Amino acid sequence: MNKINMAEMFCDDEIKNAVLSVLTSGNYIKGENNIGFEAEFSGFCSVRHTIAVNSGTNALILALKCLGIKPGDEVLVPSHTFIATANSVIFCGAKPVFADINSDNYTIDVSDIKSKITPRTKAVIPVHIYGHPCDMNPVKEIAEEKDLYIIEDACQAHGAKYYGKTAGSLGDVAAFSFFPSKNMTVAGDGGAVTTNNDEIADLACAIRDQGRKDGEKYHHDYPGLNLRLSEIHAAIGRIQLKHLSDWNLKRRENAHYYSGFFSDCENVITPAETEWAEAVYHQYVIRVKNREKLRNYLSERGVSTGIHYPLPVHLQPAMKDYSDPVSLPVTESFADEILSIPVHPFLKREEREFIAKSIQEFYNGIK
Ligand SMILES: Cc1ncc(COP(=O)(O)O)c(C=O)c1O
Repeated sequence: MNKINMAEMFCDDEIKNAVLSVLTSGNYIKGENNIGFEAEFSGFCSVRHTIAVNSGTNALILALKCLGIKPGDEVLVPSHTFIATANSVIFCGAKPVFADINSDNYTIDVSDIKSKITPRTKAVIPVHIYGHPCDMNPVKEIAEEKDLYIIEDACQAHGAKYYGKTAGSLGDVAAFSFFPSKNMTVAGDGGAVTTNNDEIADLACAIRDQGRKDGEKYHHDYPGLNLRLSEIHAAIGRIQLKHLSDWNLKRRENAHYYSGFFSDCENVITPAETEWAEAVYHQYVIRVKNREKLRNYLSERGVSTGIHYPLPVHLQPAMKDYSDPVSLPVTESFADEILSIPVHPFLKREEREFIAKSIQEFYNGIK
């Protein structure tokens, strides 16, 4: 059996030709591929607007900026996420306030959000972690009652569905990442903001491009940044997007295979897919005892694994001066147990069987 990686990159002739075509065109920014990609991604998410940017982190920062998040504000975030969720809040000068997760699908615990709202709370960032959507209806109820904005962190959830609605269309604004290992990539760094709000979309377009409106060269209505996505990356994104639904189906098939295989295995806790969810399994994360020994066992058999994430964000040294100390029992206890195993769409049937059987053998061996 060859080495089995956590992710495989996809690059076919269509992508190579698209890159060459942009290169020879001489139009490297603000061109037809950005326009096309934005329209196509909006269609995919069923939203009115997509604003393509150069990373998921910058998509989050742009979303927060467009909502007016500023120093003195507090933003509720899960700690069980990639650190960019909290970093984006800090880079707007606001304070991340960490909430725990629920033990069913590892997304933000709605009752914990409630207990952490103060007069300074302006927004909440539910993260659709591992590609499983958050339970958005209760989040919306609280947001309406307390006048909070909702920014979906959909960086791991391209195509995930909540009661049939697509991630990216469920809050005031959403952020996506197209980092190489995501469900779709632009073959480099890239990201997008999505929204149904015309004003947010206009502001996001302007801030992305030095605070100027389309067609303006040296007239700037707002202080802005350069967050533009290059035409080469947008061209790659358009082709990847055409495959995304098929790839998500394959991820789901792999995930359901594992969940079926481990259904009687007391040593492996599999991720639940809540009845209203259609998860897209950016990661397939099991919870296990003896994790390091299992990791080594798999590694010796050529199977790569990952830990997403080994140290919860609220315990990271980087957060010390920017957030209040807090205890998050579920987040903290899961960090020592979680293990991501390969679930990507290019995984062969015999490879996923080999992975599942290797895990079973490991636990049979230590009985
Ligand atoms: C949940 C989450 N939020 C934000 C990001 C940031 O995206 P990027 O790496 O494209 O800046 C990522 C990507 O790694 C992520 O997984």
